[in-house]
Amino acid sequence: MRVFPAKSHFALLAAFPVAMACTGGSPATGQNTQEHPGDAYYAQYCATCHGADMTGGMASSLVDGQWEFGGSREEIYRSIADGIEDQGMPAYRNALDERQINLIVDAIEGVEYVPVSTAMADEPEDYDVLETLDYDVRVEVWVGEGIEVPWGIAFLDESRALVTERAGPVRLIEDGELHPDPIEDTPPVAAGGQGGMLAVSTHPDYEENGWIYLAYSHGLEDDGTSGPRQTRVVRGRIQDHRWVDQEVVYQAPEESYTTSTGHFGTRVVFDEDGYLYFAIGDRRDLPSSQRLDSPNGKVHRLYDDGTVPEDNPFVDDEDALDTIYTYGHRNQQGMDFYPLTGDLWTAEHGPRGGDEINIIRAGKNYGWPEITYGIHYDGRTITRERFRPGIEPPVWVWRPSTALCAIDFYTGDEFPLWRNHLLATALRNEDLRLLQVRNDRIIHEEVILEDRGRIRDVATGPDGAIYLLTSRPHQILRLTAIEEILR
Ligand code: HEC
Repeated sequence: MRVFPAKSHFALLAAFPVAMACTGGSPATGQNTQEHPGDAYYAQYCATCHGADMTGGMASSLVDGQWEFGGSREEIYRSIADGIEDQGMPAYRNALDERQINLIVDAIEGVEYVPVSTAMADEPEDYDVLETLDYDVRVEVWVGEGIEVPWGIAFLDESRALVTERAGPVRLIEDGELHPDPIEDTPPVAAGGQGGMLAVSTHPDYEENGWIYLAYSHGLEDDGTSGPRQTRVVRGRIQDHRWVDQEVVYQAPEESYTTSTGHFGTRVVFDEDGYLYFAIGDRRDLPSSQRLDSPNGKVHRLYDDGTVPEDNPFVDDEDALDTIYTYGHRNQQGMDFYPLTGDLWTAEHGPRGGDEINIIRAGKNYGWPEITYGIHYDGRTITRERFRPGIEPPVWVWRPSTALCAIDFYTGDEFPLWRNHLLATALRNEDLRLLQVRNDRIIHEEVILEDRGRIRDVATGPDGAIYLLTSRPHQILRLTAIEEILR
């Protein structure tokens, strides 16, 4: 949990040149202790008096084995925390926390430093602390400048991630740094309203085949940037910062393209067998969600190359589109698999008072707009019916709505108590919720973050940290654990 890379160590040394000036030397290089976070704290707080190499200066040596105030670990700790006021040794109880003092004692005692979690590898200097039921959580701005309305994120490997911006660009982040130039030649999008460049995902065998999937609103005119529009899925590869090898994975029937700029869905996810699922919203044409000849208001299922699996539920129905997996949805912008059952869960942005979490089962009707817990945003009734035999009820409903957006089942090591819990983001409410799941049910809900902007995506990073894409301010936040709390 306690890693400071050489990078931040040097940053601290550089920030306190005075500490180095004491001995007139430069910091020791190439030695093991160089990596020790305790050394960095020592350089910042102690070196001016005890010498850059701990051998003494204005105050005594800390490495000659002689201790006036006690040489046990606990005694050294107390000398630092409580200070020795009458001798001019300041108390550090308030300036440093327990962990930092322990790290300095480690450095003095020559205790080797063993990093235990790569998630902490870039512990930031600036962060806010969130108190949740299980953890004190560190919230850091991972990407702060230069990104606009980030919509979706996909990690390519340990150090790189792709992020879509709704206006169209696809951006690369490497080691926490936003590449100044968007990926070249990504498909043009019909931006506007809720439309634009939306979901990004990698193929389950990305490391071998390099396939990256993009879902976006595609226009019929002006090279895809205007005219009637509809959700489209493509895949391609990135070579030398350029989008290449593009193939269309899903394109809707032309008659489903409309001028509506709302309710495009979507996310692109793969199950354990490699089937691809994505969602299209009702495109503000409510009855189309119930019509099996329309792609709207549906979850679709495909092979990774866009061909239709022969066991899709409606392939034998001549009037139905073969790609349809489930129907009766409003606008799903969150999709993920519950690791303990393999079920696909979706977040459906509902009407007023009707945001839903659903479990997706082949061929089922989820009711929109025939049944719903919500009403129209202008207060009109949609229906009084909330339940009907034969229609799948939601697992969870929010009244009032939070303006639900993305979901992610947490799968990292950084927050062990949250493994397989569901993270759900909200736009209008600007919050992140943690939902505890048991089988097919949600049994507890906690708002863990608020007031950091509209949150459009949430993902577990390869380092176990939780990443959030926010708008207003446009940022990517990174959440890591400070410590587990038993409340
Ligand atoms: C302003 C000068 C100053 C700073 C800064 C300072 N110390 Fe001291 N420290 C002293 C003095 C003076 C003493 C007592 C006299 C001595 O050094 O023999 C002392 C004593 C100690 C002792 C007890 C030594 C013994 O012989 O028992 C320890 C341990 C110690 N300091 C550690 C630290 C650490 C660790 C830091 C940084 C977190 C630090 N000091 C920062 C001045 C300072």
